[in-house]
Amino acid sequence: MTRRATFVLGVGLTAALALAGCSSDSSASTGSAPELKVSEGYMPQPVSDLAAGFLIVTNSGGTADKLTSVTSDLSDKITIHRTENQKMLMVKSFDIPAGGELDLERGGNHIMFEKVKQRPQQGQKVTIQLHFEKADPIEVELPVKETTYNPAQH
Ligand code: CU
Repeated sequence: MTRRATFVLGVGLTAALALAGCSSDSSASTGSAPELKVSEGYMPQPVSDLAAGFLIVTNSGGTADKLTSVTSDLSDKITIHRTENQKMLMVKSFDIPAGGELDLERGGNHIMFEKVKQRPQQGQKVTIQLHFEKADPIEVELPVKETTYNPAQH
């Protein structure tokens, strides 16, 4: 019995030390789940069969997450892109830091819909599903805005 008690104590101590070693990233050591909220989503009215989507994902939880994919009835080919030197580059995922946010904005990160099945018109809404590495999928409606819409300029 004595040996066993010592063993358990030893494991507990190691875990405590490991946690202490991560103290600079205190949010990650709490073990709480990501808590994601999507806001400010929109889609500029597409002028071809190519459409883009923008939104902000806020993570108020203590664990980082990743946006890994997007699905929608609008298109069978949806990818996520970042922009570098005005060129779009496909990425596998976007980080959503604990206590931080992921911004998909004009001129930067965005969702790309190719070969859209119909062209959404201003005033309509497009339903999309966001898929994450850890959190459950979130369904959001993107209002369709005028083609040149950019909230950053308002
Ligand atoms: Cu793109």
